[in-house]
Amino acid sequence: MVGAKAKIAVLISGGGTNLQALIDAQKSGIISHGEITLVISSAADAYGLKRAEKAGIETAVVSRKETGSREAFEKAIRELLEARGIELIVLAGFMKILSEDFTGQYSGRMLNVHPSLIPSFCGKGCYGLKVHEMALEYGVKVTGATVHFVNEVPDGGQIIMQKAVAVREGDTPEILQRRVMEQAEWIILPQSVEKVSEKIINER
Ligand code: GAR
Repeated sequence: MVGAKAKIAVLISGGGTNLQALIDAQKSGIISHGEITLVISSAADAYGLKRAEKAGIETAVVSRKETGSREAFEKAIRELLEARGIELIVLAGFMKILSEDFTGQYSGRMLNVHPSLIPSFCGKGCYGLKVHEMALEYGVKVTGATVHFVNEVPDGGQIIMQKAVAVREGDTPEILQRRVMEQAEWIILPQSVEKVSEKIINER
């Protein structure tokens, strides 16, 4: 039987602060139409795995290196998602680019959070701290974060939410990254997940 909440899988590669924001939002009721039932990490040592375990969420590690090819890597992820009836995938600091074949299968069902105002500082090779280094180098006075649907173009899918964040004099990439997380990512990612979860349930 289909559950009352949309089943969510969160894909991570590192620290998992966005995953933590989702876990907290679930606890506080900001996310009420979805439930995180699986966390998949592309790295065995990702701290986000510990956050998931602490919250009692099932975890799995699927390493690109150990699976050998992109096909095998994606097949392993797909099998986990299908076996658990996952309806919504959230890429939260997941540092692997997924093939068109994979993204096509989850059209409208896969979100990503990116630490800039897309279409600035995005696309292949723009991830993590690099995004903030680029923003500071360019000299923008406003940056932010974007949550968007995932399609075959890296950071190219339809935008769900964006939030602007001011750049301040003397910012380092690390300081700016933290401000963008606190003032934008950790707010708009849970809100977007709730919005899409509700839509999924209404469309069942
Ligand atoms: C976040 O800033 C996220 O937006 C970014 O990586 C960080 C992961 O942090 N993602 C990308 O750059 C994807 N292109 P987290 O593991 O603490 O959530």
